[in-house]
Amino acid sequence: MSGWNLADVPSAETLTPYALRCEHLDTTQGIGVPVPRLSWRLASDRRGDTQAAFRVTVRGGPADGPAGGAAWDSGWIDGQDVSVDYGGAPLTSFARYAWRVEVRAADGTTRAAESWFGTGVLHADEWAAAWIGHDPETEPPFEPPTDDREPRTVRTSHLPAPRHFRREIRLRPATAIRIACTARGLYELRVNGHRVGDGELTPGWTEYRRRIPYQVYDVTELVGNAALAGGGGPLCVGAVLADGWWSGSLGWDGRQQAQRYGRHPQLLVQLVAEHADGSRTVIGTDGSWRETTGPLRYADLLMGEWYDARLEHDGWDLPGFDDSSWAPARVADTDLSVLVPSAAEPVRVTQDLVPVETVVKDGRTIVDLGQNIAGRVRLTLRGAASGTRVTLRHGEALTAGGDLYTDNLRSAEATDHYVAAGRAEETFEPRFTVHGFRYVELTTHLPGDRTDGRTAGSAGDVEVTGGHAGEIEVTGRAMHSDTPVAGDFTCSDPTVNQLMSNIRWSQRDNFVSVPTDCPQRDERLGWTADAQVFLPTACYNADVAAFFTGWLADLRCAQDAVGGAVPDVVPHVMTERHGTPGWGDAATVVPWHLYRVYGDERVLRDSLPSMRRWVDHVERHNPGLVWRHRVGSHYGDWLQAGVRTSRDVMATAYFALSADLTARAAHVLGDLDTHSHYAGLRARIGEAFAREFVSPDGRITGDTQTGYLLALAHDLVPAGLVPAAVGHLVADLERRGRRLTTGFAGVGLLGPVLSAHGHADLAYALLHDDRYPSWGYSIKRGATTIWERWDGWTEEAGFGPVAMNSFNHYALGSVGAWLYGGVAGLGQRDDSAGFRRPIVRPLVGGLLRWASAEYETPLGRLGSRWEVDGDTLRLEVRVPPGALATVHVPTTDPASVRSSGRPVTGVLTDLASSHPVTGVPTDLTTGRPVTGAPTDLTSSRLAPATDPASAQPSDPPTTGRALVCEAGSGLHSFTATWRP
Ligand code: BGC
Repeated sequence: MSGWNLADVPSAETLTPYALRCEHLDTTQGIGVPVPRLSWRLASDRRGDTQAAFRVTVRGGPADGPAGGAAWDSGWIDGQDVSVDYGGAPLTSFARYAWRVEVRAADGTTRAAESWFGTGVLHADEWAAAWIGHDPETEPPFEPPTDDREPRTVRTSHLPAPRHFRREIRLRPATAIRIACTARGLYELRVNGHRVGDGELTPGWTEYRRRIPYQVYDVTELVGNAALAGGGGPLCVGAVLADGWWSGSLGWDGRQQAQRYGRHPQLLVQLVAEHADGSRTVIGTDGSWRETTGPLRYADLLMGEWYDARLEHDGWDLPGFDDSSWAPARVADTDLSVLVPSAAEPVRVTQDLVPVETVVKDGRTIVDLGQNIAGRVRLTLRGAASGTRVTLRHGEALTAGGDLYTDNLRSAEATDHYVAAGRAEETFEPRFTVHGFRYVELTTHLPGDRTDGRTAGSAGDVEVTGGHAGEIEVTGRAMHSDTPVAGDFTCSDPTVNQLMSNIRWSQRDNFVSVPTDCPQRDERLGWTADAQVFLPTACYNADVAAFFTGWLADLRCAQDAVGGAVPDVVPHVMTERHGTPGWGDAATVVPWHLYRVYGDERVLRDSLPSMRRWVDHVERHNPGLVWRHRVGSHYGDWLQAGVRTSRDVMATAYFALSADLTARAAHVLGDLDTHSHYAGLRARIGEAFAREFVSPDGRITGDTQTGYLLALAHDLVPAGLVPAAVGHLVADLERRGRRLTTGFAGVGLLGPVLSAHGHADLAYALLHDDRYPSWGYSIKRGATTIWERWDGWTEEAGFGPVAMNSFNHYALGSVGAWLYGGVAGLGQRDDSAGFRRPIVRPLVGGLLRWASAEYETPLGRLGSRWEVDGDTLRLEVRVPPGALATVHVPTTDPASVRSSGRPVTGVLTDLASSHPVTGVPTDLTTGRPVTGAPTDLTSSRLAPATDPASAQPSDPPTTGRALVCEAGSGLHSFTATWRP
């Protein structure tokens, strides 16, 4: 648990499959689709290796183990596909399947790899459980309040205590035991004294009114001999149930902060035991379960958790515990129609952080983790007297006076309390809350002290350390949806590396079941624009295929619920106006980009109706094709710096983009009528845009950077006026002393658009800037995550407006895609999906001496590393098997280019096969071929091009030329003269 690092590609002397996935997930228990997609990646140390054929076999089913039979044998299938849909006998629910893929290289060598998946509930009628909860009628008579209660705040005074549920089961001897579990609320499942699974905040947050995910666990090993063959002993299944998103605080509206979905949490468990004779025993939650409160006094995502260890029930999750004083659970209902298999990786603790500094001040101890995270703290107490209370407050920053700064959390109290049991050593780690913080303030209260702990004489003398000694040990625990790391970018500039680190942390901290805006204040919502502008960056950093596939399903449900527009936040809560430009367009941008990156066209199939509906909605209300009506909350270029981009320009640019992506999606799916309908619409919106917003001198209404960036990126400037529009953009930047003014909608386009139009020097100037407003400015101030607003803190004003000032918001970090795709140059052709035709086009420039990126494509590892050493440029490129990359070797002298010491001149060369292909070097200043040689270049568009959805253009280097060549799989090293 040391961090979030890209794994090495397995070294493979011949073509070898690795990273096997089922439905985009690593080994997983609860597959709920009848035809799961199985996929793998390829590694090979040999140049030019490609897969000639593959064969997938699947074994398993209900009688898993030696008796388990073959479920499917695909036979050898020729071709380079790295995924296949399961094609065997119908899968059985609650079963485990082992699968194996064997690949054959062109030279006939074969290698195999294995993995497994487990199924969930494949047929709705197999559910046999009810929702159960606490029955208020079982509560003791109400007593008048006395003042020996816990000192709670107004916001926490009415928070209910999470409840423990349990049931003992006596089973016939079983060979396997699996449990499906979910909650309207949050659950922690326990079996025979063990915690089940390592997921946090389960079942996660989705569009609960339509979809509640469940998880499946194989508890066979946890149960041990107790219930297995021969044993047949008793089994205890227990669960702790808290409010979570279901009935706990959500969002900022203090008048209606909790109980958004329901008043109380409820639990659903279904246990399936398999017996040696093939029969099954199924036991679901019902009225026979018993429940009571425990050590958790309350647990709330925004407010925090109160845990009184003196109230623990020893052994409650073991068989034989006396639960006669517990109350029977109440059966709430049996509506299971909304249950869906969990489609994404669970939230997990992925890293422990040791404090970097501890300061004692006025009886309080402030611990600095050195990193702004989403997560919680683990406390280890030694020698604390029973009743000693430790209060932990969390914050992202310190005031000038060194106090914890929490004003920007708004109503989120983010405060945990632990009351010690008095054991020699005890640990506390809250389970049903999450905080966004870098600093934690600890206050101790001696037994009986009901003050806030700061009153003279009341502060305990507990010493807090980050090390091993001392009486309280503090460990930061970072948690987030455990999306596998997919990329890595580093370069010679430490500030740019810090920027990438901040981007990655903001991604981790905000991908907590839902792609949220921020992890700390009373918000933490799935803001759709934040997600769509950051998606290209997110995809480089991590494999977010499963994560966003699930979120898109929620988006479609939310869109249904509001009648075709798209709510500003998904899951849909709180916001009442829908269909905001740039926000609602997540409906088209997200599926299209997922398709481009992962090459799985199912996302388009699932989303095309929603894409169409969204575009139709905008068109219906704006028949003139300039988007002015039904603009929802129209946030514009949110949090731009000191300018106001025309909202009409932004809206209409997004309208054009969404129509374009819908047309493209239809084309991929072979729906040509739909394609031509939306392509035609896109063309007409383009005309309307030009008519309305582009003046004859190439100015875009409003004359702001974002206006130009949107128009240029989405091809909305008539060709003849492009140079003029670029000129206005550049002039604006120069006039401002090379400073940006962009907000959420424009910021990610700066690097791509400037470099695509021959102004990479300006893009680099912005990247390296450390004056306000810039990324460097926040880094100079010690930022370890991306700030929500450029003026989150300034010399003049100190902290920005408390009404909205998060220090952990990824939207302005959408520059990350340009670091991977521009600076390091890892992209793909416009007509490529799943990186079948990658482009490696590094952007040598700025203050960088070198830059390096690696990225795990669906095929395997793509990488580039460039370095300027005197007059020489060295470029190393790694191409995954099955891909044919177009490599642009930057050089000021195309004749100097060498590949592995051999000249690569004139015509392009396929570096894997050494076959020449047609083409010529590019002059990167003009974007045109250097000579009049043939330009039938199948490998790459030479003219600067921007993929409108990803905004990751194929960026040419700042100056000079590049020799363009094609490279098959393997490692390629180039040298070239570089004398700009
Ligand atoms: C959120 C944003 C969001 C915005 C809408 C804010 O409160 O934090 O990130 O996109 O509202 O304008």
